[in-house]
Amino acid sequence: MMELAIDNKIFESFIDYELIEKRIRVLAIQINVDYENKTPMIIGVLNGSFIFMADLMKALEISCEVAFLKVSSYKDMQSTGEIKEEYVLNTNIENRDIILIEDIIDTGNTLDYLINKLKTKNPASIKVASLLLKPDALQKEIDEIAYVGFEIGNDFVVGYGLDYNGLGRNTKNIYRLKT
Ligand code: IMP
Ligand code: MG
Repeated sequence: MMELAIDNKIFESFIDYELIEKRIRVLAIQINVDYENKTPMIIGVLNGSFIFMADLMKALEISCEVAFLKVSSYKDMQSTGEIKEEYVLNTNIENRDIILIEDIIDTGNTLDYLINKLKTKNPASIKVASLLLKPDALQKEIDEIAYVGFEIGNDFVVGYGLDYNGLGRNTKNIYRLKT
């Protein structure tokens, strides 16, 4: 599929699944090495991260646990800056090594908020793995960002877990808004 239409918006093919798969294998190797004798708690930020998280987890050979939380800040194609917690983490993370899994880091506001919140629960460490990062949109300095699949421009993207108004998450490839 070369193009995708959602709500009268046209998206064009951008990152193929074969490339995503290859990149995930590299990230997994790094995580396997960095957490060799640890048992990290891998926390998925719903909804967007679920497909990336599943593929990444299957490539991990370390001992690990999973948990989820859900926040939302996006309305239409622009970040609102206001973060709503829709599903709160109910797992004890004290003294645990946390790997937070994101689909995409845009302004960084969501991540900054989440990291500060998690830090109050005294984990041993926090690192972030994000499939995508928009460096030109980033407004915060976040030292915890350790594993990034792809750096992209300020395009709006969908697919492979990412949505536009709730739709488009169920494609293997990633698409970007055609301009
Ligand atoms: P931030 O707080 O601005 O970094 O926004 C992060 C959240 O906005 C991500 O977790 C996504 O859910 C959403 N988001 C940002 N950029 C895109 C995009 O290009 N496509 C789909 N969702 C996006
Ligand atoms: Mg998200």
